[in-house]
Amino acid sequence: MSFGHCDNAVLTEQLTFAKRVKDRLYKSFGHIPLACVITFGCQQNVSDSEHLKGLLCEMGYSLTDDTEKADFIIFNTCAVREHAEDRVYGNIGRVKQLKKDNPALIAAVCGCMAQQETVAEKIKKSYPYIDIVFGTQVSHRLPEFIYKRLCGSPRIFELKQDNGDIIENVPVKRDGKLKGWLPIMYGCNNFCTYCIVPYVRGRERSRDPEKILEEARAMVAAGYKDITLLGQNVNSYGKGCTHGVTFAELLRRINDIEGEFRIRFMTSHPKDCTVELLDTIRDCKKISRHLHLPFQSGSDRILKLMNRHYDRKGYLELIKASKERIPDLALTSDIIVGFPGETYEDFKETLSLVEQVRFTSLFTFIYSPRGGTPAAIMEDPVSRKEKGEWFDELLRLQEGIASENIKALLGKTFRVLCDDFGSAEGLMSGHTAGTAVVEFEGDSSLLGEFLDVEITSYENVFKGKIIN
Ligand code: SAH
Ligand code: SF4
Ligand code: F3S
Repeated sequence: MSFGHCDNAVLTEQLTFAKRVKDRLYKSFGHIPLACVITFGCQQNVSDSEHLKGLLCEMGYSLTDDTEKADFIIFNTCAVREHAEDRVYGNIGRVKQLKKDNPALIAAVCGCMAQQETVAEKIKKSYPYIDIVFGTQVSHRLPEFIYKRLCGSPRIFELKQDNGDIIENVPVKRDGKLKGWLPIMYGCNNFCTYCIVPYVRGRERSRDPEKILEEARAMVAAGYKDITLLGQNVNSYGKGCTHGVTFAELLRRINDIEGEFRIRFMTSHPKDCTVELLDTIRDCKKISRHLHLPFQSGSDRILKLMNRHYDRKGYLELIKASKERIPDLALTSDIIVGFPGETYEDFKETLSLVEQVRFTSLFTFIYSPRGGTPAAIMEDPVSRKEKGEWFDELLRLQEGIASENIKALLGKTFRVLCDDFGSAEGLMSGHTAGTAVVEFEGDSSLLGEFLDVEITSYENVFKGKIIN
């Protein structure tokens, strides 16, 4: 979907650059130019990439996944853990050879990793074949950067962060036709001591509720059946704004849009998760029965050091309140193992919390020091090997819980959105309003349909049969 008009001068200027790129590219190439967007990191980055793709299409590019065919290649990067950064360096190193094969290739690096000055400097020095590097708050200027580089400008480095206005109506080319991301806010103000995100994404900024509703309505009209609202901390949506619309109120308004579709959201920060929000999930039938509520650590001492602003007791009360209100709620969480100074006693508190809550699934990470964050200079005496052993212990515990959770779903019937092909001929697959994936007999005519499916067995995925 592409918004044909624009309501601000910044975007108008960029769309003018896009047109100039289009005129110039077609002339010089004699073929339709191809662009390849490679995305690392979280859903926010996936959504940003969909906007980069929207801009690239405005510029006359067609999209490809094949780096060897591309005339423009861009890496949208993630900085959240060292492993994410290592993968990016490995990938951008390959551009050297690609440029040998296609000297007209333009290569760019953007996103959270590129936003860090140390990284931009390293690319400047050690990766001379990267033409354009830009940060998270200027990605709408891609047409300008490409145009300037095509006109022979020196390499471009633009890391400006002004935490200013949100640029609305940037063209977007979504990857899916049924499931779509919808950003409602950008940035983060929480400064959890281990986390790089507030530094690379800037201060929290909420979109205008009317703009969000307009986009949600357009998505529903275009056939989207599963819309995920995105923000680093969606529960603080609207804070500091004059419109007075809370996240719960925003959900209610989206829920009122006509049609059968699902609303998901992520991520919720426990400190801002209100009973009003839980009641809203309970009352609004289009909101998925899923709460991703990262707790990071079960130890109050570590939670304090992490600057998370809630304690174990408060978290458990929140879980109790949500389970009471919302039957069949799928609960998921993020956990960091081996935060600086964490002892095995602290870690046992994490294990016991996992044991108590019985999450549907967990995203678990070994702590990775991020330069510039407070935790990176805290004493960290526990070895990587020992942290790895704790990590494995946590995985084993969760495996047992997950298999119990699986058993609990057998024989039950759920409303399932058929959103993909299954693992074999004659099978289709879909999601419940929680997080479960179910396979059932059918063909592509079911794509986009909501069906009542009874879960009959589990073999790596749930198997079921349609009962309506
Ligand atoms: N805004 C979201 C998630 C941000 S990053 C939230 O607050 O929940 C996703 C997850 O990565 C975090 O929840 C955390 O578990 C993990 N993470 C962030 N920084 C990390 C680090 N330095 N080392 C290991 N894991 C980290
Ligand atoms: Fe990082 Fe904390 Fe913000 Fe999440 S809430 S993005 S973990 S600083
Ligand atoms: Fe990574 Fe940036 Fe997301 S650091 S996790 S891509 S906000």
